[in-house]
Amino acid sequence: MTVKIGFIGAGGNACWHMDMLKDVPDGRVMAIADVDFPRAQAAAEKHGAKPYASHKVMLAEESLDCCYISIPPYQHGEPEIDVIEKGLPFFVEKPLATTLALANDIEERVIKRGIGTCVGYQVRYFDIVDRAREMLRGAFINMAQGYYVCGAIGGWYTRMALSGGQITEQATHMLDLMRYILGDVEWVAASKRQGAVVSADTLDATVLGKGSASSATAGLERHEYNIWDATTLLMQFESAVPAVFTCSCQVNYLFEVLLDIFTTEFRLKIDYEKMEIIRKVDGKTTSETIMADTSPKIDAAFVNAVKTKNFSKIRSNYSDALKSLKISLAAVEAAQTGTAVRL
Ligand SMILES: NC(=O)c1ccc[n+]([C@@H]2O[C@H](COP(=O)([O-])OP(=O)(O)OC[C@H]3O[C@@H](n4cnc5c(N)ncnc54)[C@H](O)[C@@H]3O)[C@@H](O)[C@H]2O)c1
Repeated sequence: MTVKIGFIGAGGNACWHMDMLKDVPDGRVMAIADVDFPRAQAAAEKHGAKPYASHKVMLAEESLDCCYISIPPYQHGEPEIDVIEKGLPFFVEKPLATTLALANDIEERVIKRGIGTCVGYQVRYFDIVDRAREMLRGAFINMAQGYYVCGAIGGWYTRMALSGGQITEQATHMLDLMRYILGDVEWVAASKRQGAVVSADTLDATVLGKGSASSATAGLERHEYNIWDATTLLMQFESAVPAVFTCSCQVNYLFEVLLDIFTTEFRLKIDYEKMEIIRKVDGKTTSETIMADTSPKIDAAFVNAVKTKNFSKIRSNYSDALKSLKISLAAVEAAQTGTAVRL
């Protein structure tokens, strides 16, 4: 069976997934809908699919097996609800939404209809993450520290109401990784920084190397920058592990993402590309670095789940990803109110 795929959204990230799907023999991109029709047309031409200006028309006319939803965070809602009404499994990009009320509503519909879902937390599929989880099983974890620093990207990302800010839109990858490795979070306290002077030049879409909203179209006159420059979280995990997480999108000279875990026996430093293991061997502190296999696996996992109707190998479904969204939203509330927020 060939899995017939429809796309809602044909932006930078959607196009990346379409390219990855070329290496998934069981999947075929049949239709692509984008409110910016020329984008849908360009992607459709490249992938031999049919372009649409509306996902509603696409869902009505096409006979699809599943959908990808890759749109800016503030656009979530109607696409998911329509896909669920059709009874189709879907892949949706993080963050699930910018408000808890909407994500809760979608989750309820997903559960009610028994829809299979996959959320774009692809780091969970890296082999070094498997290795870290294995090593930490039974270890006594003293503390963890994570950070996500980079430059700000342009377009809708720069508006709190459109993206949810860095902590919700981007740093969610690291918060999700912390949850995947350390378990669920009990409470969060947070502080923030605002006030960096930005210009169109300092909004660089290329920092992520993956074609998010282009800096060329990120004119500040259209997208006035009001996201937080930095956010710092103090977190208590249910496993009793204390952690600190900090992110900034005003570090234009660097893209660095790191999770540092200290146990009584060893320390793991995980970034997207490698993991360093530091420990004492024969009385001497040693360091070993393992390179990660970062080849994308999430698209093949999703297509296979749709094909077999078995979503047990999906590492983050809608309900699980909702827990990660809750950390970001709790952090925003905590920083705004100056009080710790229980999850
Ligand atoms: N998992 C990852 O590593 C990763 C990487 C980059 C982006 N993302 C996520 O992917 C999503 C999209 O990001 P992007 O960088 O591709 O943004 P983008 O701005 O490049 O593309 C978004 C596209 O969605 C279209 N769109 C908006 N509303 C729509 C609607 N209602 N129906 C159909 N199309 C609509 C826009 O016209 C645009 O073409 C975001 O949630 C982002 O966080 C995830």
